[in-house]
Amino acid sequence: DMGGHDTYMHKEISEQADAVDRVLRGRIDDRFSTVHLGGLNLDAREARGVRRIKILGCGTSYHAGQIGAQLIEELARIPADAEPASEFRYRNPVVDPDTLYVAVSQSGETYDVLAAVQELKRKGARVLGVVNVVGSAIAREADGGTYVHAGPEVCVVSTKCFTNTVVAFALLALHLGRIRDLSVADGKRIIEGLRKLPAQITEILENEDEIKKLAAEYADAKSMMFIGRVRGYPVAREASLKLKEVSYIHAEAYPASELKHGPLALIEPAMPTVAIVPDDELLEKNRAAMEEIKARSGRILAVAHQVQEKADHTIVVPKNENELDPILMGIPLQLFAYHTALAMGRDIDKPRNLAKSVTVE
Ligand code: F6R
Repeated sequence: DMGGHDTYMHKEISEQADAVDRVLRGRIDDRFSTVHLGGLNLDAREARGVRRIKILGCGTSYHAGQIGAQLIEELARIPADAEPASEFRYRNPVVDPDTLYVAVSQSGETYDVLAAVQELKRKGARVLGVVNVVGSAIAREADGGTYVHAGPEVCVVSTKCFTNTVVAFALLALHLGRIRDLSVADGKRIIEGLRKLPAQITEILENEDEIKKLAAEYADAKSMMFIGRVRGYPVAREASLKLKEVSYIHAEAYPASELKHGPLALIEPAMPTVAIVPDDELLEKNRAAMEEIKARSGRILAVAHQVQEKADHTIVVPKNENELDPILMGIPLQLFAYHTALAMGRDIDKPRNLAKSVTVE
């Protein structure tokens, strides 16, 4: 049942305010400015003993994990990084007893992730799952974890699950942070930010007509560049994946700082750039990158918290706490990918060559 939408992708994009509301529900503890995650199976003493966090996933879930790793480093000050599960399992990784492993998967059935979990468990590692489908293989195999409560996702292309997974990571990061060195004041600040998310998502989605017009503006592109920096970089990667999956327009994502080390050679009017430009400590750096692109006659669509003079167009999104901005900045680009694909007549819910869950190697 598409509930009045023409595609599941559109339905699922539209459901995100409710989905985020669900992942937050019942978990916030205002008394201690923290959150509780029921099934983690990691007590405070164990959480304090974690020296490093390694996040494993594929595709969109891997990108959600990259934002998750940054949230964990920022809020809990535990070194963390994300890696594609398939790369991890084929490189004979060093499995360290003080590392907490986190497997991320919407379906909970992706073979590369499951195989990585099984290999880790065989070597005695502790593995948590951040999974959407309750009772799925990865959820069962993990030592504990949390469900992302996005509800069923039917479209092959993942949207609401990405957002909810990132929110679930914010909860995990806050939980670990408050057991370690995150102050009560910062805990409160993040909780207030989390509570704002559903209304801010609604605000972004109300901008759909404008995003649709912008999609038409850029639909002639043969290829698009997506750039971001630190918090904005995984957002750029995910937006680039979304566009290519559903529209088949070639897209690449680069850290904004890497442009001058090569990809700037590609910039010309036929290669527009989508720039993720949060109003944070890196704003000036991102403006400088946009200036370099303009100097090469590149067109720029910015996603930012205020209109960017250097850009040809700006999609303005509501500001949250710096750490939580990545949760919101990708959402208009889901609609951008959707409307680009729609205008091109693509089979949005079933992009060519792709399957919802990849249960083979
Ligand atoms: C992209 C997409 C894929 C999946 C990937 C992992 O829109 O849907 O990249 O994210 O195949 O799937 P899960 O999360 O089910 O493990």
